[in-house]
Amino acid sequence: MATLELLDVYKSYGDVEVIHGIDMSVDHGEFVVFVGPSGCGKSTLLRMIAGLENITGGEIRIDGDRINEIPAAQRGLAMVFQSYALYPHMSVQQNLSFGLENLRMPKDEIKQRVSRAARMLQIEQLLERRPGALSGGQRQRVAIGRAVVREPKIFLFDEPLSNLDAELRVKMRVEIASLHQRISNTMIYVTHDQIEAMTMADKIAVLNDGRMEQFGRPLDIYNRPVNRFVAGFIGSPRMNFLPGVIKEIQPDHLVIQLKEGQPVSVSASPDGFQIGDKVDFGFRPEHISITSPENGDFKASVTAVEQLGGESYLYCNLSESEQVTIHMQGQTEISRNDTIGIKTDEKQTHVFHSKTGLAGLKSQE
Ligand SMILES: Nc1ncnc2c1ncn2[C@@H]1O[C@H](COP(=O)(O)OP(=O)(O)O)[C@@H](O)[C@H]1O
Ligand SMILES: [Mg+2]
Repeated sequence: MATLELLDVYKSYGDVEVIHGIDMSVDHGEFVVFVGPSGCGKSTLLRMIAGLENITGGEIRIDGDRINEIPAAQRGLAMVFQSYALYPHMSVQQNLSFGLENLRMPKDEIKQRVSRAARMLQIEQLLERRPGALSGGQRQRVAIGRAVVREPKIFLFDEPLSNLDAELRVKMRVEIASLHQRISNTMIYVTHDQIEAMTMADKIAVLNDGRMEQFGRPLDIYNRPVNRFVAGFIGSPRMNFLPGVIKEIQPDHLVIQLKEGQPVSVSASPDGFQIGDKVDFGFRPEHISITSPENGDFKASVTAVEQLGGESYLYCNLSESEQVTIHMQGQTEISRNDTIGIKTDEKQTHVFHSKTGLAGLKSQE
């Protein structure tokens, strides 16, 4: 078990700064997911924690101690890569024990650790095979096993499931989460997949362009995104955004005039907003009710319907340039070319300053 702190951490490659000052504090036993689009700096940050990249500025601490100058091998961490990085000419058993032999650990201890990890990951029957004779999922389990036998203070995962097919990814997601439940080490897990982030994390760090946009529990981030980037990145299908103008300011809510339709409300703090400000009005696909065209906040014409049986998606046009997605439970009678009314609920809507992207703060329920 270990704590991890990042204090104003920077990274440059030559003249190019790619991490622009990140602060974060991870508790004993927490499962933290770094999520963000490709190229935002997730792997760089993880490799700096691991000691595989030097740190240009700031400080990284494990259990309160500065580790900037400590070599990777002495940090007590173990990393699992997307590419597995197994030795092809060695058996699974040898792949698992190799790192420990290098540490000159007694043979009995190695044997115990390897068989315990093999049992935990259900790869006991594969110990004599070479990686070439394993499926993708089995290889990934061996790669995780190689981290487990080292009994690290902190596990670091860099997109470990990206090479697996969709079904296997879901299965391994559950396995890694249950591994965390059993051994309860601190884990840092990097992914670009926001569903992995939502389902696995105790806390999510949303990264964008070398900055941390928000750090918090998955549902807090989902319910109260601090800016438009986070609102659009977390949630699938993504939040709908419609441009509008602040029409009225009340102590506990803002009224927004969209291009068409009735004024809509957002229960949010008015701090930072003035009448006439340009804003984006946001609402998630599942947070609306469908009415007759004349009773909605605004009208929409349905351009496509996807019926999945248990749930349905409607894709609608408001005008030439504005589209919204609607997620409904169950099946629907609505079909293509229908005109519907859409009603929003101020408790489940969001407002973002067009210029800064900052959100009006939702009240804590
Ligand atoms: N060795 C390197 N030299 C120069 N630039 C790099 C190097 N590694 C990564 N970068 C740059 O740093 C940024 C962050 O990359 P990375 O951490 O790999 O992103 P992610 O893992 O989120 O996809 C990118 O702009 C990438 O091009
Ligand atoms: Mg990466």
